[in-house]
Amino acid sequence: MINPHLLQCKRSYLFFEIEQRVSSFRQKHPSANLINLGIGDIALPLAPSIKDAIQNAVLQMSQEEGKKGYGPGCGYRFLREAIVDTEYKKYDIDYKEIFISDGINSDICHASDLFNKDLTVLIADPVYPLYKMTAAIDGFKNVVSFDGITLLPPEEKGELIYLCSPSNPVGVSLSREDLTKWVQYAKKHKAIILYDGAYADFIQDSEKPKSIYEIPGAKEVAIEMRSFSKSAGFTGLRCGYSVVPKELVVDGIEINRLWELRQETKTNGVSYPIQKGAEASLSGQGLMETRAQIKEYQASGAIIRTFLEKQGETFLGGLDCPYIFWKVNKPSWDFFDELLEKANIIAIPGSGFGQGGEQYMRLSTFCTQTQAQEAIQRLCALK
Ligand code: MLT
Repeated sequence: MINPHLLQCKRSYLFFEIEQRVSSFRQKHPSANLINLGIGDIALPLAPSIKDAIQNAVLQMSQEEGKKGYGPGCGYRFLREAIVDTEYKKYDIDYKEIFISDGINSDICHASDLFNKDLTVLIADPVYPLYKMTAAIDGFKNVVSFDGITLLPPEEKGELIYLCSPSNPVGVSLSREDLTKWVQYAKKHKAIILYDGAYADFIQDSEKPKSIYEIPGAKEVAIEMRSFSKSAGFTGLRCGYSVVPKELVVDGIEINRLWELRQETKTNGVSYPIQKGAEASLSGQGLMETRAQIKEYQASGAIIRTFLEKQGETFLGGLDCPYIFWKVNKPSWDFFDELLEKANIIAIPGSGFGQGGEQYMRLSTFCTQTQAQEAIQRLCALK
């Protein structure tokens, strides 16, 4: 009666497990002043222009002439157009190729509705744990790992590829050359890339591509997913989107049409006030406010990176992505406990992202500079 694939998932979801361990630590040590470098969640309050837009939308809905019921399942046109104007006009992408959702997690999970479960799926290791979990729950039979540190295409043939850049957990952004290798790989194997660009707005190196559509031919092979969670502080509000170009055609069928069908059928979309908030985040004022927040997180990243460099530690990331992947050369769950107990710092053990992450810790830089300073002092004392 029960989905056997779900029953086969033996472990609980990584972030749930971390939360449980942290909450049992809190119960034992209620006065501990914890610093959260664990899950990549906001450390700053909602930007004023987003708050105003959401409040105004709710106010509007409370009046006779402004009331709103069900919205379009694929998203309001005003938000789809604002996304095109801000991000995708330069790639000649139309608003009908943008699908609004409550975030990348949902889009990643729902994407599998479109595909046969006997496809060979490629997933990095180490990797954001959702990809493997959802592929397992959905019953994909052939899942092949590729190197999540170099993030380069493997020799083996894959047909559905989960690719995240800037990458979670390693914190590195693919170069134009390496991303081109993926597009070529997908063309050669007639594969589709599900491109998770949640951290695109954190890229500081202007040479690095922000969108996969900067690579010629990518529209024929890739669905790009973005989120307002990290770029505009929407982790608690929920809004993201997928770009499904009309050029993406499989077996003579436009994937865009199937995506629309699935989305219109399976969801009633994201609420109007939240979409108004997302639209506001893309206005001149909204971008100014949210970019200032991103700069704060980047400055915190620089504080932690500089500290690790001075200590002669080995690590990746933290420059184009709000994650630092620190080679700790210890079993990572042991080091998780040590950090929590002795330094009151929450981090994520690398092995939680797959075997390839063992002996690493992931530090999130979603913290204020004050918190980052405090964290490095505690790390120093720990040494
Ligand atoms: C992470 O910490 O890896 C993510 O931010 C968590 C998430 O987006 O679900």
